Amino acid sequence: MLERDIKEVLVTAEEIKEATKRLGAQLTKDYAGKEVVVVGILRGAALFMADIIREMDVYLEIDFMDVSSYGEAIVSSGEVKILKDLDTPAEGRHFLIVEDIIDTGRTLRYIVDLLKYRKAASVKVCTLLDKPERRLVKDLIPDYVGIQVPNEFVVGYGLDYKQKYRNLPYVGVLKPEIYQETTE
Ligand code: PRP
Ligand code: MN
Ligand code: MG
Repeated sequence: MLERDIKEVLVTAEEIKEATKRLGAQLTKDYAGKEVVVVGILRGAALFMADIIREMDVYLEIDFMDVSSYGEAIVSSGEVKILKDLDTPAEGRHFLIVEDIIDTGRTLRYIVDLLKYRKAASVKVCTLLDKPERRLVKDLIPDYVGIQVPNEFVVGYGLDYKQKYRNLPYVGVLKPEIYQETTE
């Protein structure tokens, strides 16, 4: 059913699994001997979060943040608003932020800066997908990247179009008629 709306599979479930295992092995090395708070950014990162932490053989805690961006129109003022903050005090702790995708980089710029302001011991970023062509925050360079994707509208494995398609097990490109017929 959902598959009918997909033009092309960009990243297969197998490729997601491989990337997750590779990143998990690297993270296990890099955080050896440290305790880390892994922060999933709701809602898109939920699926990748669940998978990446099971590939990390380190003592970790999990927490979640939900933020909303104000969109293209408001660029210079407060771009991001916290809908759900961390429950974990940040001072002196190591944080790994987990995202499904980095696009403009605005969401992560805000969250990374916030954790640094709260005196986190370290803040690293791990994203499954990176869309570097769309980056507006040029100095936002993720520490861990699964797969680079071209500038296309992608859904699945956490990524939505109007809150749907997050449950696809792969990442695909939506047929243009799907978003043309519903955006007025
Ligand atoms: C998407 C995605 C990232 C963010 C990336 O989330 O999951 O969090 O946008 O965009 P940026 O790099 O331009 O800031 P969205 O705001 O759509 O919320 P969602 O995760 O609930 O879908
Ligand atoms: Mn998101
Ligand atoms: Mg979204």
